[in-house]
Amino acid sequence: MEKKLAGEKATEYIKDGMTIGLGTGSTVYWTIQKLGELVSQGLQIKAIPSSVDTERLAKKAGIPLTTFAEVDMLDLSIDGADEVDAMYNLIKGGGGALVREKFIDTFTRKFIIVVDESKLVSRLGSFPLPVEVIPFGWEVTCQSLAELGCTPVLRKRNDERFISDNGNYIVDCHFTGIDDPASLHSRLKQLLGVVETGLFIDLTTLMIVGKRDGVEVVSPKKNLT
Ligand code: 5RP
Repeated sequence: MEKKLAGEKATEYIKDGMTIGLGTGSTVYWTIQKLGELVSQGLQIKAIPSSVDTERLAKKAGIPLTTFAEVDMLDLSIDGADEVDAMYNLIKGGGGALVREKFIDTFTRKFIIVVDESKLVSRLGSFPLPVEVIPFGWEVTCQSLAELGCTPVLRKRNDERFISDNGNYIVDCHFTGIDDPASLHSRLKQLLGVVETGLFIDLTTLMIVGKRDGVEVVSPKKNLT
């Protein structure tokens, strides 16, 4: 219910003619369903999905899709998160879509996060940090990750290695806590084999928090008019 409230509320910021980035997960699911209704009522938008799952849901909901071949800057992206800290920095990638999510959440004028209260934390890092790595040499990439102070765990699904939409692996990095997300992100990005990290730093324009009795809209940057 909290996720539904947050996900649906975000559609109020979508205006005719916009190009929208659609995130991935069970909160954005509700955004997609509501957006499908609005499109069937005549709203004219196009969207770039951040995963194969979201693409499938968006097509089913009748949402017209586009790609970065046609659009170099989105008007608005709406995405979920696994953790949000007091500076509105995020851990994302619980669903394994972090690379494409980082594209849509970066190349956008405005970025709305939709979460329930359980995602709000004072410090990032209780949720294992997802890092996408190329399959070749993943074992040594994991050793490099461990040298940065975490326990790296190769993600599996149904006992098989999890493969991202980009054909890569996800390593879930268990830290005891992340004190400086920006510095950690830079250090991780320098490691051979690392494609992208689930740290989303200083990107958030607006946060919508679904609660039992409604939604709270928090605006870290006051440019969402
Ligand atoms: C997928 C993500 C999701 O946004 C994140 O896992 C939150 O998902 P949910 O809304 O289902 O809790 O980063 O890669």
